Amino acid sequence: MEDTLQITINKTLQSRVQNLDYNNIQFAREYSDHMLVTDFKGGEWENPEIIPYGNLSLSPANPAIHYGQSIFEGLKAYKHANGKISIFRPKANYNRMNVSAKRMVMPHIPEEIFMDGLTELLRLDQKWVPDVDGTSLYIRPFLFATDEFIGVRPSQDYKFMIITTPVGAYYSKPVKVKVETHYTRAVKGGTGYAKTAGNYAASLYPAMLAQKDGYDQLIWTDGQNHELIEESGTMNIMFILNDALVTAPTGDTILDGITRDSVLTLAKDWGMKVEERPLSVKEMVEGLESGALKEAFGVGTAATIAHIEVIASDGIDYKLDESGRVFSQKMLKALTDIRLGLAEDKFGWNYYI
Ligand code: COI
Repeated sequence: MEDTLQITINKTLQSRVQNLDYNNIQFAREYSDHMLVTDFKGGEWENPEIIPYGNLSLSPANPAIHYGQSIFEGLKAYKHANGKISIFRPKANYNRMNVSAKRMVMPHIPEEIFMDGLTELLRLDQKWVPDVDGTSLYIRPFLFATDEFIGVRPSQDYKFMIITTPVGAYYSKPVKVKVETHYTRAVKGGTGYAKTAGNYAASLYPAMLAQKDGYDQLIWTDGQNHELIEESGTMNIMFILNDALVTAPTGDTILDGITRDSVLTLAKDWGMKVEERPLSVKEMVEGLESGALKEAFGVGTAATIAHIEVIASDGIDYKLDESGRVFSQKMLKALTDIRLGLAEDKFGWNYYI
């Protein structure tokens, strides 16, 4: 890459945005007109290009396909009533992506490629940012190996890309989750904290079994004894227990969620008691039985704040009453207001394009 970043822009001849039905946006059904692409070759990053969204041509010997050397991020852009567009905490995603890259032996992504690339892409595709209640533009940066070689070793070459897609709610209604005590998502010393493809692939089979039984997602427990609550595949998980906000501490088995951090930061700012500590399934079940556990919810970029209505543990369905959702409703509104510029952005989370 040259000293100053040059982004080549090759615009689509035919935008598809007029086909977007802003009043009927589901999760990631359509992809915006353009995408950012850049290669890491011969130990150097090439200048990025923004090109029309389309398919890729890959070698059948691509190591990301064979061995999963692939990482990604998820963040969102919002349209404010005055027409301004902001992205929520993109530098936090940038930093986390490089943490994942390190674990997966992939090259460090330069900040200007990620941030300037993202900004240019969003400026070009800003009509794709929906402004209907509950919608946003989901941004998916990803990095994957591109060598043509099926030996097991870190790839030498890579491709970094960003695609975007208008989204509504990931979970359209409160979710039913099941505590998983047989299968394992992550173990100490493993890749659980990295946003890498294999973590998601490994979760599909146990999640499918739970879905057959009528649950939407799992609550993962520690890989050693299956006694401690970790996270829920697509989101971190939090509880209101004895009037405190309780969530598992991050570590090498739990994703360091940016929504998780935002919720904890706001809760502390409100003077709420916040406990980042190991929480056992036993303590959670006791709280559900006694009524000391009033709320359970997932927090994530795609999921936003996903209310949990049922937690299944050891074959028993514990129901959480809708009337208990006081903190999670207040938090959802507070985060939405900050993201849409309707409330003070005290922590400087909105990045305007
Ligand atoms: C996100 O919340 O952005 C995620 O990456 C979770 C999921 C959609 C894979």
